[in-house]
Amino acid sequence: MHSDTTGSWTPVALSADLPAGTVIPARISAGSIALWRSESGRLSASADRCPHRGMSLSHGFVRGEALSCIYHGWSYAQGGNCIRIPAHPGLTPPETIRARTFAVEEAGGVIWVAADETETKPPVLEGLTPLRSMTTDAGISAIETAAGTKASAEGLIEPAGGTLCLLVSARNDGQTLIHVLLKGETSPADRIAASREAESLRRAAEDLQKKGIAS
Ligand code: FES
Repeated sequence: MHSDTTGSWTPVALSADLPAGTVIPARISAGSIALWRSESGRLSASADRCPHRGMSLSHGFVRGEALSCIYHGWSYAQGGNCIRIPAHPGLTPPETIRARTFAVEEAGGVIWVAADETETKPPVLEGLTPLRSMTTDAGISAIETAAGTKASAEGLIEPAGGTLCLLVSARNDGQTLIHVLLKGETSPADRIAASREAESLRRAAEDLQKKGIAS
């Protein structure tokens, strides 16, 4: 089973789901992360744990170029270093207070995060347009069986005879994250049809998983 689809890079979200000035939770093999985009559009990924008392940073808020914790308001820069402690406004936080950060890249409307330090870049998915993301309780093998084809090295499953393409990555909670992508130019009707096809593939894969036909 794939744990990461492409070495240490995991496709964690679609660009459209992370507007400027927002933060969302995501998962990589190293654990839960807070994925955020500053108000100027810079992307960051940090461990989803505030160094102060452990609150999830994905519950926090973005202000300007910093991510702030919802609990006591400590603020972190893109590099993970703490830049502000509201209870001590005159204090410059020591460099040792920092959230762990991960490399993040955005290409073709998909956001990728590397679980480990890497010299590589995530794959470029040519000619594909992101449509939506979904999770499933089925494993990648069950999705492959339902789709009648195997995933590529990049984690792409392309059912025959349509515009649909699924970018899959296994999560360490047993679920699989699926980004639904479309091939070439598509009409609104094509997009609706592809979304329905993806839903029905998900149901078929979950049935297979429950019956133990694929795992
Ligand atoms: S737990 Fe995050 S600021 Fe206190």
